[in-house]
Amino acid sequence: MNALARIDPLQYLTAELDQLAAQGLRRPLRVLEHEQGARATFDDQAVVNLSSNNYLGLATHPTLRQAALAATQELGVGSGSVRTIAGTMAIHLELERRLAAFKKTEAVVVFQSGFAANAGTVSAVLTRDDVIVSDELNHASIIDGARLSRATIKVFPHRDVDAARRILNDLPAAQRKLLITDGVFSMDGDLGPLPALCDLAEEYGCIMMVDDAHASGVFGSNGRGTIDHFNVHGRVDIQVGTLSKAVGVLGGYVAGSGALVEFLHHRARPFLFSTSHPPAVAAACIAAIDLLEREPGIIDRLWENTRFFKEGLRELGFDTGTSESPITPVIVGDGALAMRLSDELFRAGVFAQGIAFPTVARDRARVRTIVTSTHAREDLQFALDVFGRVGRQLGII
Ligand SMILES: Cc1ncc(COP(=O)(O)O)c(C=O)c1O
Repeated sequence: MNALARIDPLQYLTAELDQLAAQGLRRPLRVLEHEQGARATFDDQAVVNLSSNNYLGLATHPTLRQAALAATQELGVGSGSVRTIAGTMAIHLELERRLAAFKKTEAVVVFQSGFAANAGTVSAVLTRDDVIVSDELNHASIIDGARLSRATIKVFPHRDVDAARRILNDLPAAQRKLLITDGVFSMDGDLGPLPALCDLAEEYGCIMMVDDAHASGVFGSNGRGTIDHFNVHGRVDIQVGTLSKAVGVLGGYVAGSGALVEFLHHRARPFLFSTSHPPAVAAACIAAIDLLEREPGIIDRLWENTRFFKEGLRELGFDTGTSESPITPVIVGDGALAMRLSDELFRAGVFAQGIAFPTVARDRARVRTIVTSTHAREDLQFALDVFGRVGRQLGII
């Protein structure tokens, strides 16, 4: 058959993209010109950057750079294999030992990303005979892991402990079940009700799991996360953390018992079937843990900035939802309006990503702001001034 006459079987994708464009939701990828920072240049536009997860500025920290360079010189750029064949290097084990001590658990296993840690763990630990009881706003990687496990998924309204209790009440006592929540919810910046959920898990005999991706390096002493913040050590069976956000590098990990970790070595598919991190990644993560242990002052600075910026947005009259973390949404409702706000902010020198359905509910579209410890007060004041001006122009405040 003449190749030119062939009908493109992916044509329907173009139609879907056109539909997104018609709704004002088709987005080009923004391109970061140099390194990640509090002030940065995207698409030739210099901005105050309120869109990265680089909470502590560690993505460009000189000590981490140096550690990565030294590991590359000594050990090369790649591991050459999956962990279960020839790709477990001594430096991977050193990182896991350091993380286990940091999180105060028996053991840790590192995955290629936080996404892989969540999806790989939920899908390995649960089976089609089990039930997963999950907050409606849990991260996509938890949802995908739950689907892959083939367990029955029961969703409770956001942070609604009573609703979770009603679901558990209706299940047979002998039923194996997982109760799962994010520690910090990534779109709203609020916290999972960990103490109450741990009580529930104990009462109903659930496996308790917390995804602490946005809490690692942010909450708790030295950034140990929400388990430390709420002092529920020993009550959460499976803790997931990420190395890609406050830690500034790449990866995810599961902290828990030795048996859990060894089981994941045998059954977690991303661990079994995807190549391990380059040594530079592990070395930079170890350097980050050193820093968190030695210099927790960088986290104090993050919280000072968070308080200043949140208060500023509220005083301007924006709806910032129920955030308790450095993630502060500015909720506008309509998806197209959120994208317009984001675009106008960008033109005026502030980068805050617009987020609409399906990432958040249709009537809860927003721009999401994230401050870091490396923002100067002038950066944040500039951003607040721009938010005020653009918000008034668009009739949002
Ligand atoms: C709540 C939550 N869990 C997990 C992840 C995945 O982490 P990573 O970026 O390391 O894959 C993210 C990041 O987007 C997240 O927001």
